[in-house]
Amino acid sequence: MIDKVLGLELGAEDYLTKPFDNRELIARIKVVLRRYDNHDPHKSGEDKPMQLGELAFDLDTKVVLKNGTPVSLTAKEFKILETLFVFEFVEDLSYFYVMMDQIRYILFAGAAGFLILITLASLFIARNTTKPIQYLLGATEKFSKQQFQQVKLNRKDELGMLAAGLNQMGIQLNEYIQHQKQFVSNVSHELKTPLAAIRGFSQYLYEGENKDKDLQKIYAHLVNESDRLTLLINELLLLARFDKAGSDEMGKEKTDLSGLTESVAAEMRSKAEDKGILLDIKPGKPLFAFVNPTLMSHAVANIIDNAIKYSHAGKRVRIETFIRQETGVIQIRDEGVGIREEEIARVQERFYRAENAHVAKGSGLGLSICKEIVEKFDGKLEMESEVGVGTTVSILLPLA
Ligand SMILES: Nc1ncnc2c1ncn2[C@@H]1O[C@H](COP(=O)(O)OP(=O)(O)OP(=O)(O)O)[C@@H](O)[C@H]1O
Ligand SMILES: [Mg+2]
Repeated sequence: MIDKVLGLELGAEDYLTKPFDNRELIARIKVVLRRYDNHDPHKSGEDKPMQLGELAFDLDTKVVLKNGTPVSLTAKEFKILETLFVFEFVEDLSYFYVMMDQIRYILFAGAAGFLILITLASLFIARNTTKPIQYLLGATEKFSKQQFQQVKLNRKDELGMLAAGLNQMGIQLNEYIQHQKQFVSNVSHELKTPLAAIRGFSQYLYEGENKDKDLQKIYAHLVNESDRLTLLINELLLLARFDKAGSDEMGKEKTDLSGLTESVAAEMRSKAEDKGILLDIKPGKPLFAFVNPTLMSHAVANIIDNAIKYSHAGKRVRIETFIRQETGVIQIRDEGVGIREEEIARVQERFYRAENAHVAKGSGLGLSICKEIVEKFDGKLEMESEVGVGTTVSILLPLA
């Protein structure tokens, strides 16, 4: 009420309280206009039409002129136009514009909030599902490398069940592999003594008095084959030892890999020369790593042996040591028969011999032993090969 009084005192013609009826508003405006017309000293006596843009609007005669030309309207159309005109005239539509702006603002803010909420919810859902899946994938990858670990997800849904299944599978696989390794180790042990006897008797027969050339050949073959079997059994026992021992039990000491490689290569030079292969030894600067020198020499000798075995006469084997990205590298590069791409990953498996294996004798254990030795000292065995071009084997070891 006090607002009304103040408004009237300040010069307002009339007052209308919201909400109001349109008819009341129009009627009140007409009253104000009439009052204005009656007191207008310049008024000629006739009603002057009100102007809005191009439109002239006469409320009394109900005539609408556009640029001076009368517009034909029905009574209803006139009523609508009159209402709009009056609203525009009193500039009260601005109130609706403000309201419209506010509604638009609320809608925009709501939409933005909704978008943010949806994004956060999707991120949360994605994190919640992809994280355990990545964990399970990591576990299966480790299983494939025979690194069995406990797989556990604290969930009661399908992912939790999958983790429990994987865990059970890992336990069973691990047990199976351990049994298999134990079996091979036991058999190797049992075979060692009789084989030593066979080897001894064959040697005795071979060196004994014998005029029969064919028999002599058979005895020589017996000696060779028992030597090969002894080597195989020794390798199997070495593998069994690796399976049981941790890297700490391997007798590690700070070793110069360059010196070690050079002396192993020098020992194998005559074997290479016998086959007409050039051993190109490029001694590098001293490279120190924590390894067991006997085992590492065994690994390097195995790889040089392969390079000689799987190369034809006249080819070259290059042996070098260097540092690559703060890692010690022993590299043996041959120009031999090469390995097919799809077999490169498999030749480090126990007993796996590639398609090219007919070129030389072997049991398929050499590289798997090298891999075990290198990995025991936190290193890695890398192989690149191309059929007919050659093979490069690199032993990568952390520097001391
Ligand atoms: N330098 C090489 N060039 C071509 N093929 C190779 C080379 N080194 C290894 N291979 C392939 O990988 C297979 C596995 O090698 P690995 O040394 O484990 O066994 P092996 O040489 O057959 O027998 P051994 O147990 O006597 O070493 C070989 O049979 C051969 O097919
Ligand atoms: Mg070999």
